[in-house]
Amino acid sequence: MDSLHVQDDLKHVLYTKEQIQDRVKGLAEEIDADYAGRDVLLVGVLKGAVMVMADLSRALQSHVTMDWMAVSSYGSGTQSSGVVRILKDLETDLMGKHVLIVEDIIDSGLTLSWLKANLISRGPASVEICTLLRKPDAAKVEIDVKYVGFEIPSEFVVGYGLDFAEKYRNLDFIGTLAPHVYS
Ligand code: IMP
Ligand code: MG
Repeated sequence: MDSLHVQDDLKHVLYTKEQIQDRVKGLAEEIDADYAGRDVLLVGVLKGAVMVMADLSRALQSHVTMDWMAVSSYGSGTQSSGVVRILKDLETDLMGKHVLIVEDIIDSGLTLSWLKANLISRGPASVEICTLLRKPDAAKVEIDVKYVGFEIPSEFVVGYGLDFAEKYRNLDFIGTLAPHVYS
């Protein structure tokens, strides 16, 4: 869906589909260079990372395998608590693998720091993180994120996989919602 069809719901467009594609290609080049000659397992975090996983994996010029996890963090409202429950686990044995977690956004960073520790406990050769978006609050948690698409302000964003109440995931761009949508 493009911005014309949801313009009444939006405050503004943050990144167009062209800007997203350019940045994702840049990330893929970095990842190709860093992992040259090594087998990489991309671990996508459902559901938000579906779009970035689809585009990033196709922009890579090396073989990768892909697997998916679904997690939910307990907590009230929109605040992440850091207590995470696995809704769908990986099918892949991580022993000796180079794992790259692919995420849509890091806000508090609590979900990802839990996830990274969980994956490390399974004996992989390495675990790194690639996120399309990162908000400033992420700085409060000590988590090393190797690949970041865009640093964004602390605003609620939707589109390109990101939802508000499960809606707007299929926008081909990233935007901020108008206040009347969530108030
Ligand atoms: P945290 O980093 O543990 O706070 O949680 C990050 C998760 O919260 C992401 O994976 C998203 O699912 C969700 N999230 C955080 N900020 C936003 C946003 O601006 N729009 C949509 N989802 C968000
Ligand atoms: Mg997510």
